[in-house]
Amino acid sequence: MRTIDWVDGAVEIIDQTVLPGELRVLRLHTVGELIAAIQSLAVRGAPALGVAGAFGVALAARVHADDPGALDNAVRRIETARPTAVNLARGAQRAAALLPLGPDAVLAGACAIRDEEIAASESMASRGADLVVELCGDRPRLLTHCNTGGLCTVTVGTALGVVGELHRRGGLAGVIASETRPLLQGARLTSWELSRWGVEHRVAVDSAGPFLMARGEVDAVILGADRICADGDVINKIGTYSHALGARRAGIPFIVVAPESTVDLATPTGAHVEIEDRGAAEVTAWSDAVNPAFDVTPHDLVTAIVTDRRVIRIDRGEKP
Ligand code: MRU
Repeated sequence: MRTIDWVDGAVEIIDQTVLPGELRVLRLHTVGELIAAIQSLAVRGAPALGVAGAFGVALAARVHADDPGALDNAVRRIETARPTAVNLARGAQRAAALLPLGPDAVLAGACAIRDEEIAASESMASRGADLVVELCGDRPRLLTHCNTGGLCTVTVGTALGVVGELHRRGGLAGVIASETRPLLQGARLTSWELSRWGVEHRVAVDSAGPFLMARGEVDAVILGADRICADGDVINKIGTYSHALGARRAGIPFIVVAPESTVDLATPTGAHVEIEDRGAAEVTAWSDAVNPAFDVTPHDLVTAIVTDRRVIRIDRGEKP
């Protein structure tokens, strides 16, 4: 099953806002519908956002073929629908570069981005599983954060793809999914995907992660990224930094799995990245709240970054 695809002239996505209660497919026919789906997190996760951005431009190219002003405006709205994951603007810009060749070329370019993400997932799964075994032995107990499965890519996933691969190899002694407040991508989505794959797991509240590591119940933290900066700083779901601190304190590896499409060498450090603020309403109805959706994990807390082409050993001074 693909999280996102182009089917009969529209973008089809799995609506991630209603999982795990309901498996609903949405058909998006307009740029407005696509942007609404991105902003409500019906489609989410950095690689899937890159594909969504490219398909959004393909939709715009069909509707506004004779109106360059409207087309430019649509591309800008897609690129900026969410600020933090580099993939969204990058996917939209790659597709937009094909606009002079016509709508069919734009759609072909968008499908190529989808296919690249599928191939990248497969490559990360085996590369990442090899690294986990190298660092932790062949029966690791892993902790993951947010959702990094097929739902956030197109199929397979990033960090969760590695978890799935270790499970297939019979080399997984346990998985803890931290729930990922406030929208519960871990408790709702990661748990749903692991159950479908037949991977036994437990959900922990986010604040329990560092304590479980300190108690010796986790051999490595493995998670994804929305943007990887030139110095190796990792932007990912809020809560990631706490897990990195917990891992460092416990002396266990902190492994980031993300495709090359998430590596952003034009951004020098995490301090240069706009962190999405999703507003108070998602957190509480009782009082005012601050709700940053992502955080920055300094590169000196990262052991390794696994992409579809490289293992970058940040702990040995290597850079993206
Ligand atoms: O707000 P979301 O759900 O889009 O955030 C997603 C994450 O933070 C994922 O961990 C990230 O995109 C990595 S998946 C490769």
